Amino acid sequence: MYNIRMSILSNKRIVLGVSGSIAAYKAADLASKLTQAGAQVDVILTASAEKFVTPLTFQSVTGRRAYTDADLWGSEAHVLHVGLGHAAHLLVIAPCTANTLAKLAHGQADTLLTVTALAAACPLIVAPAMDGGMYDHPATQKNIDTLRKRGAYIIEPAEGHLASGLTGKGRLPETPELIGHIRLVLGRGGLLAGKRVLVTAGGTQEPLDPVRVLTNRSSGKQGYALAQAALDAGAQVTLITTPTALTPPVGAKVIRVETAAQMLDAVLKEFPACDALLMAAAVADFRPKTVAENKIKKEGGIPQIELEATEDILKAVSGLRSEAKRKQVVAGFAAESQSLLENAANKLQSKKLDLIAANDISASDAGFSVETNRITLLFADGRRESLSLMSKSEAAEIIVERVAALLE
Ligand code: CTP
Repeated sequence: MYNIRMSILSNKRIVLGVSGSIAAYKAADLASKLTQAGAQVDVILTASAEKFVTPLTFQSVTGRRAYTDADLWGSEAHVLHVGLGHAAHLLVIAPCTANTLAKLAHGQADTLLTVTALAAACPLIVAPAMDGGMYDHPATQKNIDTLRKRGAYIIEPAEGHLASGLTGKGRLPETPELIGHIRLVLGRGGLLAGKRVLVTAGGTQEPLDPVRVLTNRSSGKQGYALAQAALDAGAQVTLITTPTALTPPVGAKVIRVETAAQMLDAVLKEFPACDALLMAAAVADFRPKTVAENKIKKEGGIPQIELEATEDILKAVSGLRSEAKRKQVVAGFAAESQSLLENAANKLQSKKLDLIAANDISASDAGFSVETNRITLLFADGRRESLSLMSKSEAAEIIVERVAALLE
């Protein structure tokens, strides 16, 4: 039943407006990635965008016709000028030049793109991109402010090298970041709108000396996927993460920790304000009792490392829950290499969880570092749900849906 999960982008109709900036070539990648994610992308190029890229570029990556100002006066003009915007879930203008920005702010309608923007009732995302000084100019800032006040979502340009050779603010952010913002806007009003979700991710690192740590093989992928799925569902997300190789999802408030003790402090601080805690981190159960001040040298012989227990974060949280006056859902994760369901059921009960996701890490296609998981969900009321092998993102979407149902 859950084999094919649709992400937030699938079957969404997105109009992508491209205006005349050197960053227009990056819009082709954006159009391609949105299409690959399942969106229907209709591209509109301004006349100056056509100096940098061609409609064929976009047609090739979207599999759909791309529109230009010639269409504003063509045989379908009477339908197109309002039709493109009316059918859309979202209008994204990336890159948006200072000129197009000014037209949008003032409601000017002399191009197919700006006519479409006026006719569209869907949310508008604008990603300004321009060369040195233009972004900071009071005229541009005023236009951005006007659009923002009117409800447009502005993606701040990145700082760095600009086409002129200058360095400054004005670069179009890279595709994954643009898509992160698009997901945030599409997620508004989702299942978890108005809810705060706290997610922990990654393996904790317990120092032995200034250069060595005791850690585990957690990649953080399942936790980051949960944070993204909660954002897609419209939640306000705080991600408490250990060092990982991953980029946090756009829109999450990120708290970086290393040790189990730091994670405990962060969770206890954030938990009272949250509606759901998804405890996906692999927390060390033991840490070195003492941390050497200086690097342990081999001349000293093989060290004897004495360990001590860390505190169980979920058990500490269950103490706080009794004080809460409102419903809070707590989900744990059990990574087991044997007696999966029995161990998970024990953890569900001893940690007073609403839900535990049990994952068999002995399989080569599930658990640490891989992209997929085979999870069984165990609920406090005794219900069990076995999910087939699926990507960590798909598993995250289902867990988030179940958490939302428990919060109802
Ligand atoms: N957990 C926690 N605090 C710890 C250890 C684990 O909050 N000190 C949480 C994990 O984040 C996870 C759940 O408890 O959500 C189960 O973690 P797991 O490592 O599977 O269980 P443990 O309680 O550590 O038991 P064991 O290692 O003996 O299996």
